[in-house]
Amino acid sequence: MTPKEALPILEAHSPPGETWPNHCRQVAKVAKALALASQEAGVNINPLRVEAHALLHDIGRSKTHGPMHGWSGYILLKKLGKPELGRGCITHWTKGRTAAEMARNSSFSTSFIQKVYAALDPPDWNIEDSILSIADSSVMHTTIVSLKTRHTDLESRYGKSDWITRTKDLAFSQESSLSKVLGRPVEDIVKPLHGHSLDDA
Ligand SMILES: [Fe+2]
Repeated sequence: MTPKEALPILEAHSPPGETWPNHCRQVAKVAKALALASQEAGVNINPLRVEAHALLHDIGRSKTHGPMHGWSGYILLKKLGKPELGRGCITHWTKGRTAAEMARNSSFSTSFIQKVYAALDPPDWNIEDSILSIADSSVMHTTIVSLKTRHTDLESRYGKSDWITRTKDLAFSQESSLSKVLGRPVEDIVKPLHGHSLDDA
């Protein structure tokens, strides 16, 4: 699982005029920086896999922009014979919620949620998932920003809701946990990238 494998798939499913493919590229840039820093800190991690998952996390947006885009992306990659590349499609949607929490706080059926979580291999949330989540929370459209800016924008676009608040809390909690693992603030690694945009690409 490498960016070399993921990029042609992203390119083949990028409709003209859509910004989400460049959003994916920016999320991958942040995820790569965080994965490499984690590796340097001694974490057992595969930066190429993290980057590949990030590049494809929103590929379901080629099918739908609704709440099902995560699952649609996973199914798309599964149909291509590459379900292992679709982990980020699912994890950027669940964002670290357990299956029980998803069942409680979403309108999806319990059987559907069980199917979604059964697709995760390995099943448990891990540090690579946290890195993708933090990276996704660091890119507003195609601009790399602070977690605070990204979540303020989400709240203004979608309105305040329990789902959006929980998404923000999870991102900040994952950032705090990763900072402890790294021995320095995640912000120190992402800050030099703040303001980078692919809007004109
Ligand atoms: Fe995203």
